[in-house]
Amino acid sequence: MRISRREILKSIGATSFIAATPRIARAETPDSFIVLNATEATAPIGGTEYEPTAVWAYDGTVPGPVIRAKQGEELRVRFTNNLSQPSSVHWHGIRIANAMDGVAGLTQAPVQQGESFDYIFTPPDAGTYWYHPHARTWEQLARGLYGMLIVEERTQPAFDADIALMVDDWRLDDKGAIHEASFKSMRDWSHAGRLGNWLTVNGQSQPKFEVPAGGRSRLRIANASNARVMSLVLLGGKVTIIALDGQPVPPQLVDEGETIEIAPAQRVDVMLAAPDAIGEEFDLAFKDRAEKLKIASFKTVAPLTPLKHGSIVLPDNPIDRSLDLADAQQVDLVMEGGAMGAMREAIYKGEKMDIRALVAEGKVWAFNGIVGRDEKPFFSAMRGRTVSVNMVNQTSWPHAIHFHGHHFLVIERDGKPVEEPAWRDTVLMAANERIKIAFKADNPGKWMVHCHMLEHQAAGMAAWFEVA
Ligand code: C2O
Ligand code: CU
Repeated sequence: MRISRREILKSIGATSFIAATPRIARAETPDSFIVLNATEATAPIGGTEYEPTAVWAYDGTVPGPVIRAKQGEELRVRFTNNLSQPSSVHWHGIRIANAMDGVAGLTQAPVQQGESFDYIFTPPDAGTYWYHPHARTWEQLARGLYGMLIVEERTQPAFDADIALMVDDWRLDDKGAIHEASFKSMRDWSHAGRLGNWLTVNGQSQPKFEVPAGGRSRLRIANASNARVMSLVLLGGKVTIIALDGQPVPPQLVDEGETIEIAPAQRVDVMLAAPDAIGEEFDLAFKDRAEKLKIASFKTVAPLTPLKHGSIVLPDNPIDRSLDLADAQQVDLVMEGGAMGAMREAIYKGEKMDIRALVAEGKVWAFNGIVGRDEKPFFSAMRGRTVSVNMVNQTSWPHAIHFHGHHFLVIERDGKPVEEPAWRDTVLMAANERIKIAFKADNPGKWMVHCHMLEHQAAGMAAWFEVA
């Protein structure tokens, strides 16, 4: 099922000004834990077009509550799993203590039904992050389990509004229910992953947001879809990119009509300078080839407080940027498999298997000839060592490669130095592209590397590395 113009446009006219922003979580226990419950719930994913959709959700809403932490201060979250299957919570993009990374089966035991797990960590970096399960993520995320994690800067930058926007695509059936029959579709798993037919922002169909006229709003855009790369365009105001994957970048003005590409799991923070006139409306659109489909809209309102005019350069984060590239540990990460690929065999659970046997196991992708998370790490690095990873995409599909516990610098694409290298936690690779990244392996523990197109991850594109 492809996203089709008709299906998205169906919900046009169905929205009014509704509370488009998720609730902010507050500490609720005497020992100051934020309580986070994964439960079954219903949510108005299909707007007024459909009955509320049965979902799995954090605290009963999609997305879950926005969790706001302060840079350098301890955050406590008590997670309880009320789902019918084991789960866990991963704090995507946080350079976190390993035991709190939330990877079921690697950094912790899965949290069973009815059980709780206390996540306690101190985020070192300010910025826009998110949280989601790390157990059957391809199913649990698609059912609605995700939320935004905002780490506030020690000194608040001068914005007039701060708006979280979690973009997602859903595969709904003709009654507006999650299309469950296709969850394990090998066609999806071996092609582009599970693509939806219905787009939401903050779990809503074409929500409307108010922004102060003449003011500067910080939009925190996250892509929570299983596999869809979002090409977004803001059709009004002036837009400047100020952070990628939580990390500040030199402000970069976006030309009018230019799309912002956000791969699954990536975040882009932009500063939106709104028009001066009150009552102006403009859209956030998803670009589908030549067409622009409205997924949300903005309306300028009279500012409640005097507008701020400080610098929009975000304060820097304490990432160790002293890369020793001359003496870096060189690691190769070769991606193989998928439809129209040349993979004939690979190692799965320690055994060499041919492609037919692999397909029978639901495995069609490999990193370095190995399918899925092996017993052995794909590399081990001494703490403090610079690691340079040469990633080679030998498949006919794009991939969104995510490293846990570290941000990395994207240095080269297809052998050419990247002009404005950025620190990211997830990088989008085109089919047959080669990318070189580097980072300081300064966070001890066992860390996953995987494709964040979740069907690819489930079907083999996952490994782990160790920092000792
Ligand atoms: Cu966003 Cu391994 O995850
Ligand atoms: Cu992939």
